[in-house]
Amino acid sequence: MKTKIVNYPDLVAARNREKSETVFFDASTLHLDEMKKIASGKKYYIHTYGCQANVRDEETMRGMLESVGYKKTEKPGEADVIIINTCAVRENAEDKVYGEIGNLKKYRRANKKLVLGICGCMVEQPEILQILQDKFPEVNLYFGTHEIDQLLDLVYEVYSSDIRLISIKSKQGEVIENKNVVRNNEYKAYVNIIYGCNKFCTYCIVPYTRGKERSRKFSDIMDEVRELKKANYQEITFLGQNVNAYGKDLDEGHDFADVLEEAAKMGIPRIRFTTSHPWDFSSKMIEIIAKYENIMKCIHLPVQSGNDEVLRLMGRRYDREHYLNLVKEMREKIPGLSLSTDIIVGFPNETEEQFQDTLSLVDIVKYESAFTFIYSPRRGTPAAKMVDNVTYKEKSRRFQELVKHLEVNIEKDALSYVGHIYKVLVDGVSKTDENMLSGYTESNKLVHFKGDKNLVGKIVDVKILESHTYSLIGELVNG
Ligand code: 5AD
Ligand code: SF4
Repeated sequence: MKTKIVNYPDLVAARNREKSETVFFDASTLHLDEMKKIASGKKYYIHTYGCQANVRDEETMRGMLESVGYKKTEKPGEADVIIINTCAVRENAEDKVYGEIGNLKKYRRANKKLVLGICGCMVEQPEILQILQDKFPEVNLYFGTHEIDQLLDLVYEVYSSDIRLISIKSKQGEVIENKNVVRNNEYKAYVNIIYGCNKFCTYCIVPYTRGKERSRKFSDIMDEVRELKKANYQEITFLGQNVNAYGKDLDEGHDFADVLEEAAKMGIPRIRFTTSHPWDFSSKMIEIIAKYENIMKCIHLPVQSGNDEVLRLMGRRYDREHYLNLVKEMREKIPGLSLSTDIIVGFPNETEEQFQDTLSLVDIVKYESAFTFIYSPRRGTPAAKMVDNVTYKEKSRRFQELVKHLEVNIEKDALSYVGHIYKVLVDGVSKTDENMLSGYTESNKLVHFKGDKNLVGKIVDVKILESHTYSLIGELVNG
């Protein structure tokens, strides 16, 4: 099988942040009619790893594939198109992908016309792409985060010419409006507002894989929100690697606080957003969050470390004092605020004292939830070149200690729910007991309770009876 390389990723090109205007265009497909014939009676399988941006990309790919007639299957063995949508943020996410492709390659051997595609952040790294090519000759399509809108044309080319196709261009990127979307959930939706990242934190691969910060037009975002409201969606989450940067690349005169306010006025019951960088979180944003009842009082504010020198080496653009002052302002102005964070332990050469600063910050802020990670070197990033004198064993010990510190407050917070009634958006039925439902409070606490499956997608009152570290047990109020 021949390999056709349309574009190959390049980390130097991926670093480019020349000043350029944000380019907009609507997605279109060259081979639409041919694809409708090819897709007739066929199925697709997509498996997504990683963050919400990847989940939203999956929904776009589903929309494109279903628009020509492919039907979804949960069984890769039945599929005619298989897509693995990958994550590159840490090594363990990549290891899972290698394992999964290893399991899938037999289907390609059994079905020569199967399109077996790998996309997402992993393949944006040239060295990883090479490893994938060497290890898995069965894979016949590689495409990057900037080529998602071309999916149908890529599938068409692979299907009709029996080649291995690589189409991954490292670039700053555009804003591509793609109206094709099949959402994974009927009452909770993700809405992209800004793509890419310009922050280049020294440990992070995302700015290389997802291009520059570029905002969608305000009117396009609001059209999407309006449609979701019409379709009775109960919750939307605005997405961006850094939502605070919304609008800075456009001259429309709108910032992220305006996005929140306009959406809040439309009356969607629950509005969330992720992620916010502590560096450019404005007081205006805090005021808008406090003002509207339907903007959830939950802020995900990744701190990464509590030590100034580590924050400087990470390239985070704020210090401990700035972060703590911001938290103080938020807690003062937003009653009932629930704060969550991301923390990395074992950044190269992190000392025990520096790690202790992270523990003390955690004790001061008292997060309601947190994602914790052991530092994972990402080839091509500045941190990966730093000599590291901290052993993995020591990093693991610090990780356990950090989790223990976090859990003190998480458990205390969970206990404070017991005996009170909360509004819960019902998410689904328990896999092990069909009489049990689960859902989330406004503050994003997971709650399990008995109830009928007709309640899925509705907001109900639940009285909390019992608390565990990462979930609550309750009972429906009024039946
Ligand atoms: N190693 C460990 N954690 C990382 N993150 C990003 N890059 C790395 C890395 N190289 C974490 C950060 C970020 C979250 C999405 O993933 O905490 O906020
Ligand atoms: Fe990565 Fe930093 Fe950008 Fe977040 S802000 S995506 S951690 S570079």
